[in-house]
Amino acid sequence: MTAAPAPLAIDAQRLQSEIDAIAQISEAAPPAVTRIIFSEADQKARAWLRAKCTEAKLTIREDAIGNMFARWQGADANAPAVATGSHIDAIPNAGKYDGVVGVLGGLEAIRALQRASFRPSRSIELLLFTSEEPTRFGIGCLGSRLLSGTMEASAAQQLTGADGKSLDQARHAAGFTGNLATSVLKPNHYYAFVELHIEQGPLLEQAEVPLGIVESIAAPASFEIILEGSGGHAGSTLMPVRKDALCAAAEVILAIENATKNSGSTDTVATVGICNVFPGAVNSIPSRVRLTLDLRDTDLARRDQTFRDIRRSAERVGQKRGIAVEFITINADSPATCSPVVTDALTRACAKHNLPFQKMVSRAYHDSLFMSRIAPTAMLFIPSHKGYSHRPDEYSSREDIARGALVLAETLADLSR
Ligand code: GLV
Ligand code: MN
Ligand code: MN
Repeated sequence: MTAAPAPLAIDAQRLQSEIDAIAQISEAAPPAVTRIIFSEADQKARAWLRAKCTEAKLTIREDAIGNMFARWQGADANAPAVATGSHIDAIPNAGKYDGVVGVLGGLEAIRALQRASFRPSRSIELLLFTSEEPTRFGIGCLGSRLLSGTMEASAAQQLTGADGKSLDQARHAAGFTGNLATSVLKPNHYYAFVELHIEQGPLLEQAEVPLGIVESIAAPASFEIILEGSGGHAGSTLMPVRKDALCAAAEVILAIENATKNSGSTDTVATVGICNVFPGAVNSIPSRVRLTLDLRDTDLARRDQTFRDIRRSAERVGQKRGIAVEFITINADSPATCSPVVTDALTRACAKHNLPFQKMVSRAYHDSLFMSRIAPTAMLFIPSHKGYSHRPDEYSSREDIARGALVLAETLADLSR
């Protein structure tokens, strides 16, 4: 007589201890986490994750941009695989759950299936995406943009970080030396992709619902705004003749807030998160300012209309103050609609475990936005305490994380049959 297979069960304690362990690999003092792409911390965290994947007997491949693919070989080696994953890079002064829950939750989902003696027909692959966060190179989802063919290798090669190092220099130094063009995956490479992530908003907690099945992902865009005035001596240049680029920037920032609040929907959101002032001296009039603008909406047309309103207002500020205002588009992405192939599998998995869920929109962007361009894709959200994210007090409970990993495991099993 053969023993009955073990039930599918998540080791919540182990998963939490791994989330806590990777949070220690950081450039910031706890509880904050900072892990900038290709930094020493990122490299250490990658090595730590590689060892965990090897321990789980996954076969590891890494591409030229540093995306990592850890594969659990299925019985049908030629069938397109089912994939899951997320990112481990963290913006400055972040928390420990954004991205990490999807990577380590994905790994634990695979281990849980292995412990339950599940035999996948399609291979199941865990993905670690390079630079979901835009911190170093100014654009988010670098790895998934490249592998989905959304960004050309030649465009990626133009990217340079604030430290003056190009993307190529940074990835080569991190050991990723291949030709970037080889990162693109062929159509139908994956049968499906599913990403587990913290909600980063308050809705699940408020509704007291443990899980969210994401049906669409909002459309993100980002820009640089360069304001060019004229500098000079802070004592001897009188106020009537000044062309102070920072004073103009202040008006532009408020015009951005105003245009966004007047878009007609609270779904439009805009953020100026960086303001670089040149030359940046106490007694020197700012001659040049660089702002970043992050603009998003669930509705593409409204986002683009808001952008036009912002640009018109900024140009008016520039004319009034004698300041040249230039907008540079970094990215202007379309929203994603999730696939019923994956949302139905997630729904079945929730039903099987008697777990309530609600359907929702992701207002944050994720690598899923780009995976949806090449594979049927959806996301699973777990509650974020008070909706806090991108801050050190980001928190999701061990129980919620385990529930997410369990539904993910069930969904991977379903899709891999
Ligand atoms: C991802 O980190 C985002 O900014 O939505
Ligand atoms: Mn993030
Ligand atoms: Mn994230």
